Amino acid sequence: MPETLVSFSGVFAGYGGGDVLKGVDFEVHQGGVTCIVGPNGSGKSTLLKTVSGLVRPRLGEIHFKGHNLVGMSPRDILKLGVVQVPQNHSLFREMTVEQNVELGAFLVRDKRVIAERLATVREMFPIVAERAQDKAGSLSGGQQRLVEFARCLMLEPELVVLDEPSMGLDPKTLKVMFATIRMMNEAGRTVLLVEQNARQALKMSHHGIVLENGRVRLTGTGVEVLHNPEIGALYLGGSLEEAKHAP
Ligand SMILES: Nc1ncnc2c1ncn2[C@@H]1O[C@H](COP(=O)(O)OP(=O)(O)OP(=O)(O)O)[C@@H](O)[C@H]1O
Ligand SMILES: [Mg+2]
Repeated sequence: MPETLVSFSGVFAGYGGGDVLKGVDFEVHQGGVTCIVGPNGSGKSTLLKTVSGLVRPRLGEIHFKGHNLVGMSPRDILKLGVVQVPQNHSLFREMTVEQNVELGAFLVRDKRVIAERLATVREMFPIVAERAQDKAGSLSGGQQRLVEFARCLMLEPELVVLDEPSMGLDPKTLKVMFATIRMMNEAGRTVLLVEQNARQALKMSHHGIVLENGRVRLTGTGVEVLHNPEIGALYLGGSLEEAKHAP
């Protein structure tokens, strides 16, 4: 059995106007890729924000390597090795690609360590070397995504949290992006991601979780979730309840 890296128990969270997450329980296995899917507004981004400390749960616990992340500051969570790439593009457009990547190491003091890590991410992401001196804003959406990945690896995180990394990418770039997630995982990072592109994402994930209306409705291997008859209903716009009552 793989070890658990993150465990959610009874997590309730929202933004002041009622709960968005209504008692979430699940586990993220160490060394795997775990993919959360679900309809718009089901609370996927909110769930990821509770991991990185941007949203503080009202109730419940999130355990990561012996720490309860609930109540910890985003900075302290980052220091523990949890790095999130947000849903919207987050590079500083007027800064160069290299400057953006270096910013990822802002918690690292040792210049030699920074240089070593920069060399590693240049190798993993050729674009970081090829476009080093170009302004980040001059890159395509897909290229910016890869630079964001490179930036997050500068902290050598234990857990990489990705919110809809495929958003806005064309089919060819999408393939590169998914292959890159696999590569980061094979390089030792545990990955927790949210994807609207459910089919492709679940295929490449070890574990799948379906979130509906702030609750976990299904868990299993990526392939199990993909082939679950109820999941189709979710993506055709229906709910699981409707699927159960459908003829
Ligand atoms: N900053 C916020 N303040 C208030 N309400 C918010 C905030 N962010 C999200 N919400 C609300 O919380 C609910 C869940 O939003 P969330 O972004 O977590 O869903 P999601 O599953 O990520 O959706 P999508 O697939 O559209 O990204 C929605 O009703 C949304 O309007
Ligand atoms: Mg979202």
